[in-house]
Amino acid sequence: MASTDFPYAQCSLIPAICLLLLIFLCYSPFDAKLNNPIFSLSSSSTSPETNNHTGTPSVLVNGPRSTLMYQSRSRHNTNKIKKSNLEKIEDDLAQARAAIRKAIRSRSYVSDGKETFIPRGNVYRNPYAFYQSHMEMMKRFKIWTYREGDHPLVHYGPVNDLYAIEGQFIDEMEDKRNPFRAHHPDQAHAFFLPFSVTNVVSYVYQPILSINDYRRDRLQRFVRDYVHVVADRHEHWNRSKGADHFMFSCHDWAPDVSSADPELFKNFIRVLCNANTSEGFRPERDISMADIYLTYGELGPPRLGLDPRNRSILAFFAGGAHGHIRELLLEHWKDKDADVQVHEYLPKGQNYTQLMGRSRYCLCPSGFEVASSRIVEAIYAECVPVIIKDSYWLPFSDVLNWSKFSVRIPVNRIKDIKTILEAIPFEKYVKLQKRVVKVRRHFEVHRPAKPFDVIHMALHSVWLRRLNIKLEERD
Ligand SMILES: *[C@@H]1O[C@H](CO)[C@@H](O)[C@H](O)[C@H]1NC(C)=O
Ligand SMILES: *[C@@H]1O[C@H](CO)[C@@H](O)[C@H](O)[C@H]1NC(C)=O
Ligand SMILES: *[C@@H]1O[C@H](CO)[C@@H](O)[C@H](O)[C@H]1NC(C)=O
Ligand SMILES: *[C@@H]1O[C@H](CO)[C@@H](O)[C@H](O)[C@H]1NC(C)=O
Ligand SMILES: *[C@@H]1O[C@H](CO)[C@@H](O)[C@H](O)[C@H]1NC(C)=O
Ligand SMILES: *[C@@H]1O[C@H](CO)[C@@H](O)[C@H](O)[C@H]1NC(C)=O
Repeated sequence: MASTDFPYAQCSLIPAICLLLLIFLCYSPFDAKLNNPIFSLSSSSTSPETNNHTGTPSVLVNGPRSTLMYQSRSRHNTNKIKKSNLEKIEDDLAQARAAIRKAIRSRSYVSDGKETFIPRGNVYRNPYAFYQSHMEMMKRFKIWTYREGDHPLVHYGPVNDLYAIEGQFIDEMEDKRNPFRAHHPDQAHAFFLPFSVTNVVSYVYQPILSINDYRRDRLQRFVRDYVHVVADRHEHWNRSKGADHFMFSCHDWAPDVSSADPELFKNFIRVLCNANTSEGFRPERDISMADIYLTYGELGPPRLGLDPRNRSILAFFAGGAHGHIRELLLEHWKDKDADVQVHEYLPKGQNYTQLMGRSRYCLCPSGFEVASSRIVEAIYAECVPVIIKDSYWLPFSDVLNWSKFSVRIPVNRIKDIKTILEAIPFEKYVKLQKRVVKVRRHFEVHRPAKPFDVIHMALHSVWLRRLNIKLEERD
């Protein structure tokens, strides 16, 4: 599936207005695409945020440009008639947008007396916007998790190993204590489809006997059927054409769920670890989730990171020759250099986590797919990640400025890794490393989830995308 409809170039052309909530500012995903008769661009909404479209692509000035609405005959009489559930939801979102705009204008943090953490500093694209937006999310955001479907394909996912975060997220959403749970779909700002791609692959695709068994059609049919079931039974999918609906998966195949029926999934929000922009990942609508490996019974590795001054290894990597980038890396560096320690198999008696904790830089090349749990492992070990990937959209990029706490090395400069890293002055390395320590909390897993942890970061990304659209009812 080719992604042709997002103007990412816009973002790099106008960095000055991309500084904060990226998707607010750079993307107007629905603008050009609303040929469908049930939607029309808002030009005369009653909402104060949307009645002054000057062409500035900024919600902070003009409200959400990507207004998605039904024509509503009664919308000029809203004072006289009782508000519909959707109007209440939209009012709520309008208040959240106003509060975020205010925080950005005043460049200040307004305490609600309950916060445990205040994001500060340049690792954030705009710390004031993020703080306020996260707070508004905590206060307001309600998500309906569809009840349709059965174990093990729906409501259940892996909570350990490679795809652990998929099951952890589903489990968190289904947990009765989850504060974001809506009690009724009419209260919800967003809708979660709790199927597990990993479980579909492990249950529906077994046994795999021939190459044909890898074809994605069974997965695609399953997901499409699931959407049809919820769209038949509830009005919400049709109301937004899926724009306030999301899925969550870390499986390599997850991006393929929508490729058989691009029209159906055009507006759908996909939270994916495999965020390959060359394979149809759409940053304005999809969300790049951190890939996290969890060993059985643990929510993260032990903390073995040393003080930056005590890290004796310049760069470290250990892992299989999966994919062409790693092949290149191993070809140039495998077991050749004491400073750049690259291993296919870790020498006996060596401890992976400990080695990361003793290294200044941790190399994070793509494997078979763009995502890998190494970035998060590096962050946990307080080791500066070195991103060696093509077409990878880094997790939570609409909030975090990755260039402040990681190093990017293009694939064609793998041979220069040592020169590039040695050229970074120690003081600059120490700054990068301190910022890694700072962002660590955003990649930590807690159950139940905690403010600003990785699950909240994922939810916040969904929240941002929901803030960027406006729905109105047709009567
Ligand atoms: C992110 O950091 C880079 C490198 O320091 C800087 O050039 C860029 O302006 C920053 N971007 C934002 C949105 O703050
Ligand atoms: C609309 O926006 C323009 C440009 O920001 C401003 O000059 C104008 O006064 C605004 N009009 C209203 C009605 O707010
Ligand atoms: C949503 O649209 C589909 C296809 O047009 C239709 O079959 C379905 O009945 C609609 N759902 C509801 C709840 O009206
Ligand atoms: C660094 O290592 C030295 C020698 O092992 C030790 O004495 C010192 O406490 C360490 N410094 C820090 C900050 O960990
Ligand atoms: C590495 O060392 C840590 C701390 O000593 C330990 O908890 C962990 O289990 C070790 N890992 C392996 C794979 O041996
Ligand atoms: C990303 O997608 C492109 C296009 O399909 C593919 O060539 C590339 O190998 C992918 N990257 C990784 C690391 O899988």
